[in-house]
Amino acid sequence: MSDYTISINGQFVEERDANISVLDHGFLFGDSIYEVVRTVNGKLFAADRHLKRLHNSANSLEMPLQQSDEWYLDRWRDLHAKRASGESYLRIIITRGVGPLSLDYTQCEKQNVIGIAKPLNKWPDEDYAHGCKVVLAEVRRNAKQATDPAIKSGNYLNNVLALKEARAAGATEAIMLNVQGHITEATTSNVFFVKDGVVKTPALKEGLLEGVTRGFILQVCKDLGLTCEEGVFTRDELLNADEVFITGTTRDVMPVGYIGREKIKFTPGSLTIKIANAYHDVLHDPKNQM
Ligand code: PDD
Repeated sequence: MSDYTISINGQFVEERDANISVLDHGFLFGDSIYEVVRTVNGKLFAADRHLKRLHNSANSLEMPLQQSDEWYLDRWRDLHAKRASGESYLRIIITRGVGPLSLDYTQCEKQNVIGIAKPLNKWPDEDYAHGCKVVLAEVRRNAKQATDPAIKSGNYLNNVLALKEARAAGATEAIMLNVQGHITEATTSNVFFVKDGVVKTPALKEGLLEGVTRGFILQVCKDLGLTCEEGVFTRDELLNADEVFITGTTRDVMPVGYIGREKIKFTPGSLTIKIANAYHDVLHDPKNQM
């Protein structure tokens, strides 16, 4: 039995009946967007921020959302409610819709909304206790001037190829550089590092997704009185860091132990532990749950 709960345009369907037309531009061209929300104590975590990013993605592609905010929130809630137990990973995909077999989307009138839920996966305890392994991918993050990585689109092929490099090296994630050779982010997480007590993360202008978790971590650093810099960083600066960690909806704050064969000095480092603990409080703060 499949562990997935699926809805199409608000109707629950079995996986075998979950069909979308081959003429949907989401299938033909990756012309779609998505968001992933997780639950905490059975409530949607930071769904308002995910919804805001969904609007940004939609508007950047000139496909303004066709339903009310409450409607999308209800889809996430329904998906979770339909699952038997435990915390959920809740994905909503919005496609451009069905149209002629042409790049021109002007005749695609009705977006399709696909919801997929599964149990929130638990990453190995070992990765949190001693740091995970990541690689620096050969594949580059696409440029802001191409499909802007700020758009959470259904076009994840560079990330798919980067993750393939990670898997080949027995690593859990791949950090991607932009074409200028600066650090951007990992395939489904953002990257932070610590050097001489300063927390650093690539600036949005380098071409990356503005992670919801990343936003909380920047705030957490401020609240903890830590200096945090959003900037332009090279591969060598990352490799010479005192501490490195990745952040995302499913991983929270995960320390990095190795980048390829290079061992990171402290895993986990003291600031990573402090930040991870503070983020745990953010996750469990009822005001972030909807
Ligand atoms: N991915 N960068 C990329 C490219 C991502 O796809 C994600 C999230 C992140 C982290 O963003 P957030 O903190 O908002 O989860 C960064 C989701 C989890 C996914 O694709 O499953």
